[in-house]
Amino acid sequence: MKKLLQINSGMHGSASHSTQLASEFSEAYLHHNPGSEVTVRDLNASPVPHLNAETFATFHDPEAAVSPKQKDALSLSDTLVGELQEADVLVLGVPMYNLGIPSTLKAWIDHVARARVTFRYTATGVEGLLQNKKAYIMMARGGEYAGTPADVQTQYLKLMLSFIGITDIHFIYAEGLAKGPEKQATALQAATQQMHEALQSKEPAGIPV
Ligand SMILES: Cc1cc2nc3c(=O)[nH]c(=O)nc-3n(C[C@H](O)[C@H](O)[C@H](O)COP(=O)(O)O)c2cc1C
Repeated sequence: MKKLLQINSGMHGSASHSTQLASEFSEAYLHHNPGSEVTVRDLNASPVPHLNAETFATFHDPEAAVSPKQKDALSLSDTLVGELQEADVLVLGVPMYNLGIPSTLKAWIDHVARARVTFRYTATGVEGLLQNKKAYIMMARGGEYAGTPADVQTQYLKLMLSFIGITDIHFIYAEGLAKGPEKQATALQAATQQMHEALQSKEPAGIPV
């Protein structure tokens, strides 16, 4: 039995394309891996606060969590890290907002990237401490960027997940969603196709990452 953690970050809740794609993927994963368990964390419905100095101090030294606010913040981070540590599979629903990832997702990343917990510095460089996990990332975009230098989202997420040890990453793209209903339908069908290819452990066809 595998444990899957689905993180949604689309601002339109269940109407978000990225959330719909993430849910579609989780269902397809369950179909391929019956008995698996899915946990959903919706960063739009329950946003993680921006990281601040008070909270960051507790990441370095849990004893520094003296105020109730700090204790709550550290406890939230511990919960988010725990969900990630327990998961075999991470599914991210990622819209493109202003050329980047949503700030809600960045706030989540800021709470799970923790020195000595999910990564550590060694004499030879950074070592990610999350091992043996796969990530499937659903990218929803109004325009088309995959495979071009303007696709900083893909580069960032690849670097960031590798930083904490997640290196087996499949990107699935639904692009051109703002280019009319026909283009949108074709893009969503292409994303479904990429999901099935990813589940069969083939690289998504035709889109260089
Ligand atoms: C605030 C905002 C900013 C956006 N910025 C971009 C952008 O920079 N490039 C792009 O291709 N699409 C952009 N879009 C379009 C979204 O990427 C597109 O609507 C996608 O479906 C969003 O995913 P969602 O449906 O999960 O929210 C933007 C949409 C919003 C609401």
